[in-house]
Amino acid sequence: MASLTDLAGIGRDTRRGGYSRHGFDRAELDLREWFTAEATRRDLDTETDRNGNLWAWWGRPGPDAVITGSHLDSVPGGGAFDGPLGVVSALQAVDSLRAKGFTPSKPFAIVVFAEEEGGRFGVACLGSRLMTGSIRPETALRLTDSGGVTLAEAVTAAGLDPTRFGRDDEALSRIGCFVELHVEQGKGLAVPVGVASSIMAHGRWRFTFTGQGNHAGTTLIADRRDPMLPASQLVLAARRAAVGDARATVGRIVPNPGGTNVIASTVDVWVDARAAEGARELVEQISEDAWRAAEEEGCELVVREESYGDTVHFDTALRDDLAGVLGGVPALPTGAGHDAGILAARVPTAMLFVRNPTGISHAPEEYAEPADCEAGAVALTAVLEHLAR
Ligand code: GLV
Ligand code: MN
Ligand code: MN
Repeated sequence: MASLTDLAGIGRDTRRGGYSRHGFDRAELDLREWFTAEATRRDLDTETDRNGNLWAWWGRPGPDAVITGSHLDSVPGGGAFDGPLGVVSALQAVDSLRAKGFTPSKPFAIVVFAEEEGGRFGVACLGSRLMTGSIRPETALRLTDSGGVTLAEAVTAAGLDPTRFGRDDEALSRIGCFVELHVEQGKGLAVPVGVASSIMAHGRWRFTFTGQGNHAGTTLIADRRDPMLPASQLVLAARRAAVGDARATVGRIVPNPGGTNVIASTVDVWVDARAAEGARELVEQISEDAWRAAEEEGCELVVREESYGDTVHFDTALRDDLAGVLGGVPALPTGAGHDAGILAARVPTAMLFVRNPTGISHAPEEYAEPADCEAGAVALTAVLEHLAR
């Protein structure tokens, strides 16, 4: 059986702890190789679609297919479960279905989506967004990683053809329904398995403050235009604005040039904002404080929305059907983004969540008990059998 321990040695981040596996980097390519070998060992036919998503078909690809899967990339210093649990559980489900002599009467596949976390190129769910046309290929291919490598260059180096990137109606038209199993990430589940009801609207914004780079020892405080000042006030504004269920986070600040004895000339600050309704309004409010702080320090500010996704309500009929198959497990909302949320706009989509006792995720301490992971794989097997029978 496939297991998360098979992946334990791939993409470990010894500096941050946990794993750093990003779209089309060495670790993610090694994970793709692992997946392809596991699929081939099971006589599944693998293919990489036009946008670098990996598929493994049980039987012939075709319309009305039952699709399951998740992603293998991680955030920087991420946990072992977010993404890989859904892929490993899908392989386990195929094994279990075969062991009981089940053959799907519908086309059936496991999918691994590319760069779900946006940990390398900054836009989450990049593979599913490209496939569904929710990001333009020209925009996506120009995205750069922290070393200045474009997505176009990275996929070319991985043997893909960037000119074929973009909305893939052929791949989409084969999907009858998609079920993604995922570790739960918000202390929302008191039993081993649940189903998802909705995903909060969320997006990422980049604030670039420009001041005057200068000498830390000789520049009088009164003479400074230090972009770090409004940048730090933006962090506070984000926390202040996130009231009720709303969330606003600054997890990444890049001062340029970034020297201890140098007043920065620019600072980039990324804001991740989420709310059941009104994530954009939340950022407008945060931006007002940022503009004011920039002006007070004599700095310029440019705000760019780098990605956005509206609130997702998963297909109610499918969700209730699957919850019923699982004996009436609870349905819960989530603040985390998923490829399932992107696909939900185009095809009936559902998610199964596996209990995470602490709720910690996007961190090395992310955890689910082996017995709960097993319960998740059993639940996934049952719903796939139900859907593909
Ligand atoms: C992805 O996991 C996200 O919610 O950012
Ligand atoms: Mn994640
Ligand atoms: Mn995930």
